[in-house]
Amino acid sequence: PEPGWTESTDVLVVGSGIAGLTAALHLREQGLHVTVVTKVNIDDGSTRWAQGGIAAVLDPLDTPEAHAFDTEIAGVGLCDPAAVRVLVEEGPARIKELMRLGAEFDRNADGSLMLTREGGHRADRIVHAGGDATGAEVQRALHDAVRRDPWIRLVEHALVLDLLRSADGRACGITLHVLGEGTEDGVGAILSRAVVLATGGMGQIFASTTNPAVSTGDGVALALRAGATVTDVEFVQFHPTSFVTAGVTSVQRPLISEALRGEGAHLVDETGTRFMVGRHELAELAPRDIVAKGIHRVLRATGADHVYLDARHLGKEFLEHRFPTIVASTRAAGVDPATELIPVAPAAHYASGGVRTDLHGRTSIPGLYACGEVACTGVHGANRLASNSLLEGLVFSRRIADDIARDLPPQADPAPVTAEPGWVVPPAIRAELQRTMTRGAGVLRSADSLAATAKELTRLGEQRDTPRNSAWESTNLLTVATALVASAYARRETRGCHWREDYPNAADEWRGHLLDSIDRRGTL
Ligand code: SIN
Repeated sequence: PEPGWTESTDVLVVGSGIAGLTAALHLREQGLHVTVVTKVNIDDGSTRWAQGGIAAVLDPLDTPEAHAFDTEIAGVGLCDPAAVRVLVEEGPARIKELMRLGAEFDRNADGSLMLTREGGHRADRIVHAGGDATGAEVQRALHDAVRRDPWIRLVEHALVLDLLRSADGRACGITLHVLGEGTEDGVGAILSRAVVLATGGMGQIFASTTNPAVSTGDGVALALRAGATVTDVEFVQFHPTSFVTAGVTSVQRPLISEALRGEGAHLVDETGTRFMVGRHELAELAPRDIVAKGIHRVLRATGADHVYLDARHLGKEFLEHRFPTIVASTRAAGVDPATELIPVAPAAHYASGGVRTDLHGRTSIPGLYACGEVACTGVHGANRLASNSLLEGLVFSRRIADDIARDLPPQADPAPVTAEPGWVVPPAIRAELQRTMTRGAGVLRSADSLAATAKELTRLGEQRDTPRNSAWESTNLLTVATALVASAYARRETRGCHWREDYPNAADEWRGHLLDSIDRRGTL
């Protein structure tokens, strides 16, 4: 739609999690005027739900090379080594900056940072806060810092729609819909000299996810519509241990942090057998895809919808002190981890792929940057290593701010808006889309299941509705789900978190990236 109102800023940041807010703060250090647009409230994204922590080399006995090694092993041949090097080398300094901003991480009695371990790490290198409330503390610190700066304009309840581009193709703003401003008529535009996408993930394309309701792939959908390069979208990580509660119908499931396994909790089947022992040298602390697959095999063999996490031997006092969030959420559902087994199952957790960027967060469209889960910087490859995601947001947001400050052109006029896709689907398709994706494009995939999923998505996409927030969101879900299924179908191998029943091994000819653009939609 044509925008009904327009305002402008130097740099527009879309999204208010760790990536967006850190980018905004660094851009302010460069003296730029920043507007942050966020879909609901500033704290409603994924960041505040993060439990485990942030990985970085902070122990004198640990090394960046060791962190890079673990990251690349988890990424199964698809990590970009240069991006990984940036991540592990710049990470520690970014964490110290976050502490200077006010974030308080847990400490040992001698005042040193308390470091823990999660799956795939061969060293203790994860900082955490409030036990298992790391994301909440990080979000609090960033939120406070942003509120303290009168030159950061915050626009809440605003759904980004499409990218505005100048006649020479440069990103020069976005169209958006601010809630409470009617339907299509409430669409406005914010013009800017650069645009940073930090819209988070797309977990809501599945029927169960650890992601909040706002994670509907809006940034990737916008990028696909704008023709930006999007890559690796088939690599959706399923967290092995989301909490399964009888009778719960909400799509977002409570996370049971991997840090609980890092502190010694065991996965067991209904007979009490530790089924990960003997499957991988790290057993329950193998990289996430391996643990999720191990659980999935048990579920397929038994027909159950969950296995169990046994944390009883860690003791009531330790659990309450170290994992207050988990203890509160499980006890609220009637499960006491100090005395009972915790029912768990995999749930969609993290999009390793996204909008392709270089080492400075630049996408294939000049003036458009991407950061955080929406981006594919190359650090995660086929499977993200635990607690590297908050770190990626911290490291690359700083690089983006530096790059923007180095070379910021004057504001350009937008070319006339050509709104894509030009139609929207009804919000009612959302639940059906989620079930379809979980059934055919979830943890385990095959050519048949993906072809059936693509057919079903095409059918859902034939329906039409009136433009409004919920319909735009469903349209974004459909757009990213369709791209994911096309890539998952094309990738005829099993690698990282992409598991093909019909191609159970990794194949050398697939050691590369699939690039998606809107042209790939519906190509099965
Ligand atoms: C967790 O706490 O298990 C999640 C951490 C992450 O996703 O990296």
